[in-house]
Amino acid sequence: MSAPNIETIVSLSKRRGFVFPSSDIYGGLGSSWDYGQLGVELANNIKSAWWRWLVYERDDIEGLDSSIIQNRLVWKYSGHEDTFSDPLVDCRSCHGRFRTDKLQDVQCPNHPSVHAGESRECDFTEPRQFNLMFKTTIGAAAVEDDESALAYLRPETAQGIFINFNNVLNTSRKKLPFGIAQIGKSFRNEVTPGNFIFRTREFEQMEMEYFVRPEDAAEIHQFWIDAFYEWFQTLGISAENLKLYEQTREELAHYAIRTVDILYRYFPERADQEKQWDELMGIANRTDFDLKTHSKKPEDREGKRLNPDSTDDLSYFDEQTKQRFYPFVIEPAAGVNRTLLAILMDAYTEKTNDKGETRVILKLKPELAPIKVAVLPLAKNKPEIVAMAKQIKKDLQPSMRAVYDDTGGIGKLYARQDEIGTPFCVTVDHESLEDNAVTVRDRDTWEQERVSVEQLKDYLLKRLQN
Ligand code: GAP
Repeated sequence: MSAPNIETIVSLSKRRGFVFPSSDIYGGLGSSWDYGQLGVELANNIKSAWWRWLVYERDDIEGLDSSIIQNRLVWKYSGHEDTFSDPLVDCRSCHGRFRTDKLQDVQCPNHPSVHAGESRECDFTEPRQFNLMFKTTIGAAAVEDDESALAYLRPETAQGIFINFNNVLNTSRKKLPFGIAQIGKSFRNEVTPGNFIFRTREFEQMEMEYFVRPEDAAEIHQFWIDAFYEWFQTLGISAENLKLYEQTREELAHYAIRTVDILYRYFPERADQEKQWDELMGIANRTDFDLKTHSKKPEDREGKRLNPDSTDDLSYFDEQTKQRFYPFVIEPAAGVNRTLLAILMDAYTEKTNDKGETRVILKLKPELAPIKVAVLPLAKNKPEIVAMAKQIKKDLQPSMRAVYDDTGGIGKLYARQDEIGTPFCVTVDHESLEDNAVTVRDRDTWEQERVSVEQLKDYLLKRLQN
């Protein structure tokens, strides 16, 4: 089967309750999406997998949850006030607004057979910089043009980590190398959001800042590139849909000396092979830029850019060498939403049953599946069968996410669970009342096995680990 395109996933998401268009009853709000009963579970499972892998299974990474709205000076010294912008042009002919660096990615609204800028009618204004940070004002008396009340919604979670470097270092007593991990919402007033949840103005990031000695930075950077490339595969994403991309000098952010992106094949339907891929995450070597820039009057390499506003010095004292220096930062930064989209696309398969009907099967890793087991009564008009099925579901519930469903015939119930990625269905039938056993059906093979009710929980827990 050919890979699904994003439209297939949009349709499945809306049909089954993964992702809904936001504010739908008021006509929607461009590129805003709400996560439904299954989407929120899948996103939580992705975030838990990331957190477990980095914070619980290692000894050198601590967690953090910093504020979304921070002192404006954070964004002044991080460089975002000056540089976090896209170059924009307006077209006097079609009245469209475009990013000058992305003209090749959009069609001319008046002549869709060519890219923006390629029609003779295109008549662009001079490019101007548009800052992507959302502004807000703080306090009840704040008015729009009161500069002292100006604040921003954070455009990345990373800065919250840098400004807490000393807090975590001093309270956790960590030694280099060590990391701080954070998951949370970020906001960017994107000029051209789109492609479902791929690029939105409100999104969620999973970022980890790993602090290292400058001389170790290059090697540790490569370690994290390889580690994350592997990690996405442990989530069930196939290697053939992942690739690495080395950013060019022109593409590097102002703080980075090397950034490698992990790309996913989000657009398999595109004829141009290169355009099938886009960024799932970036892994940057941010040097000592961040800790220096937020430090009280540090000097940069040219001896300039003093920070008179900070009250702290974010350098590190090495007890062994008795030297003080600014650690380098290796930053693996992933999007929750883009990870969720890649996982849905990669898990999507279709299978034809013996009646010739095509069924969707979402082959999610059991660890990520929103629901682990559905308990189904074969005859819903038989009270003893219904009672037994409900009791089994109740007994499983403390150990795994389990649901009971009797709202259709068994074929329809199986199909519904396959489509949302539930690894196992448990069917209670007339025989169950006699032998206290149930039928366990595997989502991927459709094979069925008879299991005694006493052993059911252990049996499922074991199989869910695979
Ligand atoms: N702290 C570094 C940083 O924020 P980034 O490459 O701009 O780096 C990291 O963002 C990740 O966040 C991206 O790889 C992507 O997964 C996600 N992301 C960024 N902008 C996004 C947007 N507008 N919509 C959805 N996800 C986005």
